[in-house]
Amino acid sequence: MPVEFLGIAATNDGSETSPRSGGAFDPEYTLRLARAHEDHGWDRVLFAYSSGSPDPATGAALLASRLDRLQILLAHRPNISYPTYAARVFASLDQLSGGRLTVHFITGGSDHEQQREGDTLTKDERYARTREYIRVVKKIWTSREPFDHEGDFYRFRDYVSDVFPVQQPRPGVSFGGSSPAAYAAGGAEADIYCLWGEPLAETAEQIESVRQAAAAAGRKEVPRIQVAFRPIIAPTEELAWEKAHRTVGAIRAARGPQRDPENTGSQRLIALAERGERFDRALWTPTAAATGGAGNSNALVGTPETVAQALLDYYDLGVDIISARGYDLLGDAIDFGRHVIPIVREEVAKRDAQLAEAAL
Ligand SMILES: Cc1cc2nc3c(=O)[nH]c(=O)nc-3n(C[C@H](O)[C@H](O)[C@H](O)COP(=O)(O)O)c2cc1C
Repeated sequence: MPVEFLGIAATNDGSETSPRSGGAFDPEYTLRLARAHEDHGWDRVLFAYSSGSPDPATGAALLASRLDRLQILLAHRPNISYPTYAARVFASLDQLSGGRLTVHFITGGSDHEQQREGDTLTKDERYARTREYIRVVKKIWTSREPFDHEGDFYRFRDYVSDVFPVQQPRPGVSFGGSSPAAYAAGGAEADIYCLWGEPLAETAEQIESVRQAAAAAGRKEVPRIQVAFRPIIAPTEELAWEKAHRTVGAIRAARGPQRDPENTGSQRLIALAERGERFDRALWTPTAAATGGAGNSNALVGTPETVAQALLDYYDLGVDIISARGYDLLGDAIDFGRHVIPIVREEVAKRDAQLAEAAL
């Protein structure tokens, strides 16, 4: 199976190590960063969601209308809209992009962050709602006849959309979370299941949980697995480790007050960092510890060759999609695309050729 690479679609140049130089939505930077991904071998970029950020669907529309090949992963929280509306936004974006949209459905890992936009459900209730929401969206994407819906969270009558996706039967559904409720909902509904980077053994355990949840939901196929890292690369190991220590120093200097995370995924990252700094070939946890396990935060440190070999270890474990983002978003997207992606693709092609030969 070919490997895919997901980068980040930021709307400004800020990161954990440096404040942004302008406003929150800088269309020119958004396009420059997306182009850097498109020109350097990446497959897709993520437009993330948070309660105060620029609307990611607007950023996605900008990319869709100005770039030709790069695919879009659009993060979307069910609490912010009704699924009949959201399904049409997604179908319209899939039309605008010529079939390049995948939707990442976010349940929300923090009560406080959810309540900022009026969502008062508990996390487990939110997962139940996400599950119903995804089912409704899938049905709207594919149903040419009006239908009624009677669910726990949504009730409507006689609905049919007039805009359908380019991708048939529908765009991909991506999903993340590391709690039992997450595995159950995503295992049942997701085409792509997203994990944050953990050591190989823990990643294998999570993949197994997703596979079991998919089987329990009666699915024959399993979701493709995506794992996310923060690569820190340099021409020599020594320079890479110097850069890693500088990076974590900058994160610590820039970080504001933090709350203890409520989501299992972040709690796992913090617990891991307490167990140790280095795991396997190149995984390094101080970047996660310094951000309080905030999302994709574990680093892979080393030369491009070392980081590529570390990624291949994950590929061999059953990971299909590598998500990566540096701390200098633009420069690191170019460096990773130039120096790491070609090695991983070449090695994956060799593995695939060997498998094909063995099957003859
Ligand atoms: C790859 C990935 C990307 C995510 N992107 C976002 C995002 O943009 N915004 C957000 O609020 N949550 C995001 N999340 C968080 C999850 O959707 C989910 O709300 C959270 O992980 C649930 O916590 P749990 O681990 O306790 O199940 C992301 C998770 C993953 C794995």
